[in-house]
Amino acid sequence: MFIEKFKVESPNVKYVEDEIHSVYNYETTELVHENRNGSYQWIVKPKTVQYEFRTDTHVPKLGVMLVGWGGNNGSTLTGGVIANKEGISWATKDKVQQANYFGSLTQASSIRLGSFNGEEIYAPFKSLLPMVSPDDIVFGGWDISDMNLADAMARAKVFDIDLQKQLRPYMESMVPLPGIYDPDFIAANQGSRANNVIKGTKKEQVQKIMEDIREFKEKNKVDKVVVLWTANTERYSNIVVGLNDTTENLLAAVEKDESEISPSTLFALACIYENVPFINGSPQNTFVPGLIDLAIKRNSLIGGDDFKSGQTKMKSVLVDFLVGAGIKPTSIVSYNHLGNNDGMNLSAPQTFRSKEISKSNVVDDMVSSNGILYEPGEHPDHVVVIKYVPYVGDSKRAMDEYTSEIFMGGQNTIVMHNTCEDSLLAAPIILDLVLLAELTTRIQLKGEAEGKFHSFHPVATILSYLTKAPLVPPGTPVVNALSKQRAMLENIMRACVGLAPENNMILEYK
Ligand code: NAI
Repeated sequence: MFIEKFKVESPNVKYVEDEIHSVYNYETTELVHENRNGSYQWIVKPKTVQYEFRTDTHVPKLGVMLVGWGGNNGSTLTGGVIANKEGISWATKDKVQQANYFGSLTQASSIRLGSFNGEEIYAPFKSLLPMVSPDDIVFGGWDISDMNLADAMARAKVFDIDLQKQLRPYMESMVPLPGIYDPDFIAANQGSRANNVIKGTKKEQVQKIMEDIREFKEKNKVDKVVVLWTANTERYSNIVVGLNDTTENLLAAVEKDESEISPSTLFALACIYENVPFINGSPQNTFVPGLIDLAIKRNSLIGGDDFKSGQTKMKSVLVDFLVGAGIKPTSIVSYNHLGNNDGMNLSAPQTFRSKEISKSNVVDDMVSSNGILYEPGEHPDHVVVIKYVPYVGDSKRAMDEYTSEIFMGGQNTIVMHNTCEDSLLAAPIILDLVLLAELTTRIQLKGEAEGKFHSFHPVATILSYLTKAPLVPPGTPVVNALSKQRAMLENIMRACVGLAPENNMILEYK
């Protein structure tokens, strides 16, 4: 059964004005490696740590500014939200299609609450905590192309034509602000698009972005802004001692107009100064060490990298299943071809390299979790190929071959062929990222040994379900397995309302 709403009644939870206050017992373990009677042993001690969570229930009016607003993802998300808000339906060759949010964790997935008369009871994911409704988001942003969003939607060729016609009046007046264009960081084939660019030094460009954010906030009367990079994939920046390795060096480098500071790093810098969450949806290393330091010092949320939309999402499910089943993946080969502007940009070796890196580490945590299958340091062969094939447009093809060793030296090869409009996968993920980033800024927590409440660490690992190469604070384990990432997010949200993590034991029926 599916219910829309619920309220938790518990001595550990208080709903006070504008706040949910929960006390939560975190059941965890402490590991000790110590010499007992002459030999080292691992001791695992269960322990309970009490946490308190405070969630501000005042849902703000939210502005979302996309870098690369006029791209396929930007125009698809903007059009998709308008279509949902306005209740637009359109004729396809099969049926009359209603707007929906399929593919969005927050808008279209559910959580289990428990059992009632032998029936499992589920509720919308978004009913766990008060969240911004997509209907109330004000969109804006930047693009190095000055095309309005209606024309950008037509250029993207993602939506059915009947839908495009209905959306056009809403989107014609939406024109991106000028972006920061640096041809050294994206493919040369993007040059013809760049007719809407901020002039001046890097420092002036950062200042202009900061002004843009303030003006957008003011003009649209929004309480909060989240900025998300869905612009072209850049090449990796070189990490150079003295240039971008510390906050001081990075700021000095911007001051000196050093060429190795990328546009995405400049955007992120402006957001940190404005204390506005910044999320990187592309694979490049926007978050150079000096920038991460600054975000931590200023407690300004950053999250990334690279939307986990298709092939990698499947990989982080399939390899988790194989390794979890005691099967040993030995070779993973992933081919992609796509024909949209992202594909054209990725046809340059240096931007492809960013994507290759971000796609390559995704199985590491699963492989290292099983020392029965893998020797220390052993890794499956893992190859990623991306080709640009204009004819297929936004309809990306992903072909994957997984070869594994099974019982008694046998081999198992699984082949998958996935065809899907790339932007229709990415747009709901962008929506989740901005909604969850905003929610995260309203949660405060305190462990029993801590004197006062604090926000989550500014490097937002809580968003990792949605990203291919989750950015984590230095020294923190990276989790790529999709089910673990989802459980982490859901269970933290459950803790905020005093609910136990979903443990799937269903002891009531055992
Ligand atoms: P797109 O090429 O259609 O859109 C990117 C937009 O960014 C373009 O309109 C371009 O003019 C603009 N742009 C480029 N540099 C800019 C700058 N410095 N400042 C402002 N605007 C700038 O690409 P699409 O398909 O929308 O993808 C966007 C990004 O998302 C790409 O980096 C892609 O790799 C990444 N991504 C996409 C996924 C998907 O499933 N669609 C999945 C994972 C990542």
